[in-house]
Amino acid sequence: MTGRRVDDGLDRGQPFQFFLDGEAIVAYPGESIAAALVAHGRNVARRTTRADVPRGYFCGMGVCWDCVMVVNGTPNVRTCRTEAAPNMKVQTQRGVGEAS
Ligand code: FES
Repeated sequence: MTGRRVDDGLDRGQPFQFFLDGEAIVAYPGESIAAALVAHGRNVARRTTRADVPRGYFCGMGVCWDCVMVVNGTPNVRTCRTEAAPNMKVQTQRGVGEAS
């Protein structure tokens, strides 16, 4: 096992990188953005509008909307439902749609 990702006995395919707030993140084919970020140790996806408190992955199935981030310039993308792709640019979302 490496970090938070189970590696023993699995063939995940070729790893690739995408970028979170400019930092390179490793992902594998088929992983959601949220899964790759959690494996990396990143649990905050956005900050709320009024209180500026952090929110992260809660339901993991597209219901709670707490995992929304800005993906390739598009705000409010549910990262638990969006597959990571090479060189994708992901940003922490502030409020209803600005990158922080
Ligand atoms: S974690 Fe709930 S919608 Fe993504």
